[in-house]
Amino acid sequence: RQRHSVVVKAEAINPEIRKTEEKVVDAVVIEELSKPLTAYCRCWRSATFPLCDGSHVKHNKATGDNVGPLLLKKQK
Ligand code: FES
Repeated sequence: RQRHSVVVKAEAINPEIRKTEEKVVDAVVIEELSKPLTAYCRCWRSATFPLCDGSHVKHNKATGDNVGPLLLKKQK
């Protein structure tokens, strides 16, 4: 039986956010967390980057990808 291999081409995941920066890094001071839950984007499609706006749902449906946000939860 012949086996078929899947060739995955590496592509940039960030389409347009802060492309003039060599590396996009965001830091959050933990004391700044006032809300019980904050979602940070990891799909690079959010219009409110670095916060998640739900755009990963559309991206996942269009590409078959499975990305989702980083959730910061305030300890109860
Ligand atoms: Fe990017 Fe939700 S919009 S992870």
